[in-house]
Amino acid sequence: MADPTRRDLISIDDLDDEELRRIVRRGEEYAAGRLDGELPLEEEVIGVLFRKTSTRTRTAFSAGALRLGARLITYGPGDLQENTGETVEDTAAVLSGMLDVLVARTAGSEAELRALARHPRMAVVNAMSAAEHPTQALADLTTLARRFGRIEGLRVLYVGEGNNTAAALALALARFAGTVLSLRTPPGYGLAPDILQRARLSAGRTGARIEERHDLVDLPPVDVVYTTRWQTTGTVKPTADWREVFAPFQVDAALMARCPGALFMHDLPAHRGEEVTAEVLDGPASIAFEQAENKYHSARAVLEWAAGRR
Ligand code: CP
Repeated sequence: MADPTRRDLISIDDLDDEELRRIVRRGEEYAAGRLDGELPLEEEVIGVLFRKTSTRTRTAFSAGALRLGARLITYGPGDLQENTGETVEDTAAVLSGMLDVLVARTAGSEAELRALARHPRMAVVNAMSAAEHPTQALADLTTLARRFGRIEGLRVLYVGEGNNTAAALALALARFAGTVLSLRTPPGYGLAPDILQRARLSAGRTGARIEERHDLVDLPPVDVVYTTRWQTTGTVKPTADWREVFAPFQVDAALMARCPGALFMHDLPAHRGEEVTAEVLDGPASIAFEQAENKYHSARAVLEWAAGRR
């Protein structure tokens, strides 16, 4: 029986402004412990499919589902018959008759996730695809809201590849009035043009600003410096000399000194000595591990929303 209340989260742009804010607020409520003991998903069966490695996202959604009372089925990269040639459409038809929500990290195309989501009985949550990492952005918004008491008007400097984390962050921050996201991406490794266009479309509507440059000169005043791993999970760089191109974009103490008062965020996992020095990641301005914990709080909010329980 189709359940019209179930909702898919493949992209941040699947959420309207109110839904986005509601998930962030609910994540804050979970973080504050105000909802402890509630079991809104005790009738749900949730599938967790990870074809790629994960520490935070897989644990956040698995622990979150269990804490909310759901029962869990987990699939690793070699478990489904897709490995022996079954189509994604057939897989979706079967899983949607048995699961309420599927949390999936395919690291493949958005089209594959949309194919998995074609049956309204089962909601699909993108736990990271090649193009976008929407649940990371929701956890990041929760982190900003908890730290600053607001998201509107915050200024974020993103340093590093315009990868799936950067894409979701741009689409998410663009929804908040007065927010400024300054992307400083290595030449040839910028944000995908369609994502930049979509983020700027939202920004034009809300009064946010999304800027991108390929150098680190003339840094604006910012509240947060954000970076991600140079080797995005499940991807390979197209050029052999990529490390030389990325080297000037390391976040070190000198760069942080150019951003007085700024906090440091990182979606993790990190490679100390590559995209960030140990001094910064483990230093007093870093909230990277608080950000990681917020993935758990935010995952519970996402699951409730996807299952149509909020
Ligand atoms: N940030 C993030 O998605 O971490 P995992 O790859 O460990 O899930």
